[in-house]
Amino acid sequence: EKIEWDFEAAEKAGYEHFMLKEIHEQVTAIHDTLAGRVSELEGAIQLKELNLSEDEIKKLSRVQILACGTSWHAGLLGKYLFEQLAGIHCDIDICSEYRYRSPVMNEGTLAIAITQSGETADTIAAVREIMSYNCPTLAITNVVGSTITREANSVLYTRAGPEIGVAATKTFSTQLILLYLLAVKFALVRGKLSPDYVKGFITEIRKVPGEIQQILNQKEAIKECAENFARSKSYFFLGRHLNYPIALEGALKLKEISYVHAEGFAAGELKHGPIALLEEGSPVVAIATRGQTYEKMLSNIKEVKARDAIVIAVADSKDTEIEKYADFVLRVPQSGELLAPFLSVVVLQLLAYYTALARDCSIDKPRNLAKSVTVE
Ligand code: G6P
Repeated sequence: EKIEWDFEAAEKAGYEHFMLKEIHEQVTAIHDTLAGRVSELEGAIQLKELNLSEDEIKKLSRVQILACGTSWHAGLLGKYLFEQLAGIHCDIDICSEYRYRSPVMNEGTLAIAITQSGETADTIAAVREIMSYNCPTLAITNVVGSTITREANSVLYTRAGPEIGVAATKTFSTQLILLYLLAVKFALVRGKLSPDYVKGFITEIRKVPGEIQQILNQKEAIKECAENFARSKSYFFLGRHLNYPIALEGALKLKEISYVHAEGFAAGELKHGPIALLEEGSPVVAIATRGQTYEKMLSNIKEVKARDAIVIAVADSKDTEIEKYADFVLRVPQSGELLAPFLSVVVLQLLAYYTALARDCSIDKPRNLAKSVTVE
């Protein structure tokens, strides 16, 4: 008897879609991306591939991040980290804008290009542009030997393994890992953080894969919520501070794979326009994990409720206050403000996935989209 061998089904390892498999693989991908790069004992971060001496790190006057799409969202979170932890001025541009906007650059600027594929045409062009200012360049990519790796002075690899689903998931969270490590390393070298703080940070970041696993174990709740709103015409995502880039990413994931109109906003901007769009029953996802902007998020949630919209909150497992205001609460393990984005984003990836599933969409190959965009 001849047994038909379905190569694609074998590659999916029992998952219905590559995207779902890749969401689950974040547990090992994050572990792999951290491996050998952090030392809890010494409170040290070793990034051997980084061609910058401690002296050069001390002298940096600015970081300029360049990226597109989901990688741009990772970079936006990176900006918060470089400024807040390391005290380095950080700018971020979308590559297709940077190329044409005559930027003002100096040699003390480190350029960081983030691109999972390493092939995005606008990102490559932006890196060539910034190299003409003699700025050192660092690439963060997932693909060994990709075009960006031949352009940049240093290359840090995310070790996410092949990502087949067009919508980026595990490449995003591993890009974030490298940005956290860079920001904390720079902070340490520049005397902004102590080795003791860094030891604690390493202990906490090592817990992230296990915490993601806890979310995956309870993904049915996210599925139910997604099914409830799968027919909604429009979705809104709100976040503040480190959760703002995650709100943007949540909205992008949803539009990419489920073709539902979705917008992400900095929650403070709600009253400057977006609130006019809210109607009775509009689903609004509010990322409300505990942190310095938690109370402000609660105020935003109340504003949304006052318009009879539906609030789906992403909140810490021990937060009982949130239940008073939100219609649905999707829980993440209590992890502390700095690392909570890793958990919230997994919830939003699953929310997009199950929405697309309920709408019977082509999840791994959404219409009109490509995994790497090599045309301008
Ligand atoms: C495409 C992909 C996105 C990705 C973007 C940037 O649009 O569909 O998932 O975020 O390109 O890609 P890059 O490879 O530069 O990260």
